[in-house]
Amino acid sequence: MRTYTAIAPLQSALRNCRQQGQRIAFVPTMGNLHEGHLELVRRARTLADIVVVSIFVNPLQFGPNEDLDAYPRTLAADKEKLFSEGVQHLFLPEAEDIYPEGMALQTQVQVPDLSETLCGSSRPGHFTGVTTVVSKLFNIVQPDVAVFGEKDFQQLTIIRKMVADLCIPVQIEGVATARDTDGLAKSSRNGYLSNEQRKLAPLIHATLVSCRDAVACGFDNFLQLESHARMQLLQAGFEPDYFAIRDARTLRAVNENTEEIAILAAARLGSTRLIDNVRLTLNPVSDWGMLASP
Ligand code: PAF
Repeated sequence: MRTYTAIAPLQSALRNCRQQGQRIAFVPTMGNLHEGHLELVRRARTLADIVVVSIFVNPLQFGPNEDLDAYPRTLAADKEKLFSEGVQHLFLPEAEDIYPEGMALQTQVQVPDLSETLCGSSRPGHFTGVTTVVSKLFNIVQPDVAVFGEKDFQQLTIIRKMVADLCIPVQIEGVATARDTDGLAKSSRNGYLSNEQRKLAPLIHATLVSCRDAVACGFDNFLQLESHARMQLLQAGFEPDYFAIRDARTLRAVNENTEEIAILAAARLGSTRLIDNVRLTLNPVSDWGMLASP
């Protein structure tokens, strides 16, 4: 595995790969890699000859009250994992490489509407930080395909929209959420949970699943389902940010054009903010009462 901190040598190596007709897959990350990230890498390997992973804790996507410095950095362990997974190129830029003139003067890429709802309401500017850095990384790596986790479903939806709107020639692949055996979605943030909180945390997924089951059974009072779920989480000791039943493509209210429903939740356990989602494909030939799970 070759490691690059500067942009030019990475681009020159990738140019050689392209000249040899090799297909390039890209997995952008912020490090502190867990099984969920490794699943992305494994999928990337099935899609291309060369896998490029980036590790960059992007300051532009952290709000003023979010502790960028406390974000876990585990570079030595990350490198070992990526090497064992057969990654050929690791890109490890510094903030000065990505934002040479500082963040205030950086041109930004903003996906309107989708970036403002759900996590975007409580984390203003977060998704613009994500889309800006992802579009820069796409321009640097110029991959054929890029792989993202479905756990960050809003992020994946926004990136798909950005790529479509800006005609960026990159195929976007989503990979199903990796979970612990009790259903908790794997996340870098799980490491912040106390033992007590860790025992409670799978309730987010369980609540999402029972809500999906209720919708699949034809229960269509979504407001009631959402407030029941929020109440369940609150009573268990979570501080829910949102629990929302949405159209999976627009992340807005479900309507007669909805083909897939996403049920998304974000809640704090102590100071740790957890997110998760489940989805439900609607059967196009049936009415509201008959839905089919994926
Ligand atoms: O999902 C993440 O880890 C980050 O948001 C990403 C896509 C690497 C951009 O910094």
